[in-house]
Amino acid sequence: KTRKIAVLVGSLRKASYTRQVAQALASLAPPSIELDIVEIGDLALFDEDIENAGPPAAWTDFRARIHAADGVLFCTPEYNRSMPAALKNAIDVGSRPYGQSAWSGKPSAVVSVSQGLMGGFGANHAVRQCLVFLNMPCMPQPEAYLGGIAAKFEGGALVDDSARAFLTQFIQAYAGWVERHAA
Ligand code: FNR
Repeated sequence: KTRKIAVLVGSLRKASYTRQVAQALASLAPPSIELDIVEIGDLALFDEDIENAGPPAAWTDFRARIHAADGVLFCTPEYNRSMPAALKNAIDVGSRPYGQSAWSGKPSAVVSVSQGLMGGFGANHAVRQCLVFLNMPCMPQPEAYLGGIAAKFEGGALVDDSARAFLTQFIQAYAGWVERHAA
């Protein structure tokens, strides 16, 4: 059975390196998992008044896609040593209404991406902190802190062999993690 993995990309810009990493991971994934990016850019900022008045379709569609997924892969840039607001908002939207979180139990992993050398460590662990509370088993190893990312892509294509080897190993390990935690 092919397990469906929802991929969240924390950057909204078109030329995002994080999105390029997510696309590379999708093409390197073994046949046991299928990666699909679930867009987060059109989710209104979470507001409980909006929830109570009747949640917008963008929220309910997003929640349905997460509920239907067998696992969730978080790919995030680092903004001010944390995750971007857009990604945190998507996490918040998916966690509500209270008692109906879309996230609970889904096997997860985190990939952080940066043009700098620290590989988005702060963002990676900010996401991991949420995943503990959301009851999402998060793959501890291998960790993925992808620094110096601009040099690894050319025109959207991954051109760095060691990065490709690492991402291949990472996504294979995640496929094993998903299998281990499959319902
Ligand atoms: C950044 N950037 C950044 N980089 C980093 O390594 N640590 C950081 O704390 C920050 N902070 C930060 C804040 C804001 C508001 C922006 C817009 C950018 C730079 C960031 O790594 C760079 O823009 C990446 O290219 C963003 O990822 P995408 O959009 O290419 O996926």
